[in-house]
Amino acid sequence: MEKNIFMNLKDKNNVYKNLYDGHWVESETGKYIDILSPIDNSFVGKVQAMNKEEVDKAIMNSKEAQLLWQEIPVNRRADILNRAADILYEKAGELAEILTMEIAKDRKSSVAEIERTADYIRFTADAAKSLEGETIPGDSFPGTKRNKISFVTRVPLGVVLAISPFNYPVNLSVSKIAPALMAGNSVVLKPPTQGSISALYLAEVFNIAGLPKGVLNTVTGRGSEIGDYCVTHKEIDFINFTGSTEVGQHISSITTMKPLLLELGGKDAAIVLDDADLDRAVDNIVSGAYSYSGQRCTAVKRILVMESVADELAEKLKDRISKLKVGDPREEGVVVTPLISEKSADFVMSLMEDANKKGAELLVGGKREGNLVYPTLYDNVTLDMKLAWEEPFGPILPIIRIKSIDEAIKIANESDYGLQSSVFTKDIDKAFYIANKLEVGTVQVNNKPERGPDHFPFLGVKSSGMGTQGIRYSIEAMSRPKAIVFNLNNVE
Ligand code: NAP
Ligand code: G3H
Repeated sequence: MEKNIFMNLKDKNNVYKNLYDGHWVESETGKYIDILSPIDNSFVGKVQAMNKEEVDKAIMNSKEAQLLWQEIPVNRRADILNRAADILYEKAGELAEILTMEIAKDRKSSVAEIERTADYIRFTADAAKSLEGETIPGDSFPGTKRNKISFVTRVPLGVVLAISPFNYPVNLSVSKIAPALMAGNSVVLKPPTQGSISALYLAEVFNIAGLPKGVLNTVTGRGSEIGDYCVTHKEIDFINFTGSTEVGQHISSITTMKPLLLELGGKDAAIVLDDADLDRAVDNIVSGAYSYSGQRCTAVKRILVMESVADELAEKLKDRISKLKVGDPREEGVVVTPLISEKSADFVMSLMEDANKKGAELLVGGKREGNLVYPTLYDNVTLDMKLAWEEPFGPILPIIRIKSIDEAIKIANESDYGLQSSVFTKDIDKAFYIANKLEVGTVQVNNKPERGPDHFPFLGVKSSGMGTQGIRYSIEAMSRPKAIVFNLNNVE
């Protein structure tokens, strides 16, 4: 493959364009957004601040392109997606570097995000090939004659608006784009502003792989400026959104009869029982809570531990957390990196202030340098503290001590969120008892909360979301049944 395949999406000053009708184009607004690295404020590039007319043009172009795309056989669509996956694998190092600079994700996790994305695309291409329709004979319903038969196939919805968050700008764009495309939809991608450069490279990967023009268009600009226009546009047939509960609820409040898939915030609990393998729990809790500085929807965001093992667990955690490597994501082995913005760090610090004031015990951390927050652990957190309930999206973890299994379930379920939870125990009966009662999308037994493997169903309940992702589930969510009923005459 040619060395510099990414020369079209930006100019020599790192001004990035948008993919429109198969070409990279500049906005006519002449307005740009500077993307600075959260690592050191260095300049990464500029993206276009598009206006509503340009967004409209992109959506209308995708609408037209979809009519042709839906006619392309599924195995041809899969060929294009597989080519995109090959390019991603080949360019993983280069793309990971951009990701690291743009969102301060450590190098290892950045490479993992790109490779996981390539795998996601391949799996989706395969899964879509085996989706079949069904035929339903009329006589299976009481009172219906035998002269009816319904042929049910799955058809695309039209234009999918994909809106992704800063923390996985590549993977959580593809988790929308790939299933939408395989189902025969076209896609308009609105990437997160901080993360948009990485997402634009992804769009170019699909373009180079041979996606027909207009089947994937990108629109950049602040969500606060163009977001409402995008989500209420009459030609958008489906909104696939991942981001904060606040923005998700806002989208849901301003849209009417638009199908939505919402992946939102979480406050995942790790419930540790007295018979748990504590070393295993510690391994999972530390990597679950602190990788990418806790900026994962599925991060462990609170520990509910039985009093009898709380001291031992706290001691082990403290020891492990104080050894975590903190700093520049480009350095080998660094886990805790600068947060995405100063504002995020301010918020995490405000949770600490509240916890300090109300008497929580700081075991480790509590320090900040700019937007770098040191991994922090609090013990004896009580239910009047914000830290017990709010999603910090930062490297801070509260320990809440509990007296019984039912108390753990009660506190876990009192959260507004319901993404995932973990239960650490050797007792399978207790694990099932708790898992059945937790109001979340997924319960992990003896593991940290996590999204993958990506073909598993992934969903949040309550304020954590609406609808189900996961490769097959996402293809189904972005297609619908179409029934053609044959009404036969009796042949005498
Ligand atoms: P965010 O601020 O809600 O932004 C998410 C996306 O929405 C961005 O692309 C943003 O664009 C866009 N946006 C903002 N206002 C909009 C509007 N009015 N209309 C349409 N789009 C709009 O979230 P974030 O800070 O990027 O991500 C962190 C949050 O996402 C956390 O709460 C985390 O738990 C959640 N998350 C959930 C999952 C899950 O699967 N459940 C996965 C990852 C993250 P701009 O960047 O231009 O503002
Ligand atoms: O941030 C939300 C992601 O969907 C979490 O994915 O559990 O693989 O980190 P992950």
